[in-house]
Amino acid sequence: MASETPIPAAPLAWPKHAAPICPSAALAELGRHRFRVLYRGTPREAILVRFQGVVYGYLNQCVHMPKELDCEQPRVFDAAGESIRCSMHGITYVPATGACLSEICAGESLTALRVQERDGMLYLTEKRTTLLGTDL
Ligand code: FES
Repeated sequence: MASETPIPAAPLAWPKHAAPICPSAALAELGRHRFRVLYRGTPREAILVRFQGVVYGYLNQCVHMPKELDCEQPRVFDAAGESIRCSMHGITYVPATGACLSEICAGESLTALRVQERDGMLYLTEKRTTLLGTDL
């Protein structure tokens, strides 16, 4: 009986359209970094956040009203550092999914953007979305 040789895992594909947003060091734990994208043909503000070491990207617009999450203050996490919190009226979101935690907007979510961290840089990897600029 012939022994089977395990097939090595294929390396993760790196998207050709990946666009560098900023160095990893520009986004501290519980921090935020603003950038701009062309999303579905419209220029939009976007935001990176880092939660438990992982980076997430969202359009920077609350589901409650068309306000940026950091419109009143630069901090986008609640005092406990457990939820994204809109600075306008305090609606909170799950950092890893953007799902709204507040009853008033139950079932709604922030609009997620695919982002990846690689070799000390943070990249926008969302298809059909163009990086327009970033705050450095
Ligand atoms: S606009 Fe964000 S909580 Fe009201």
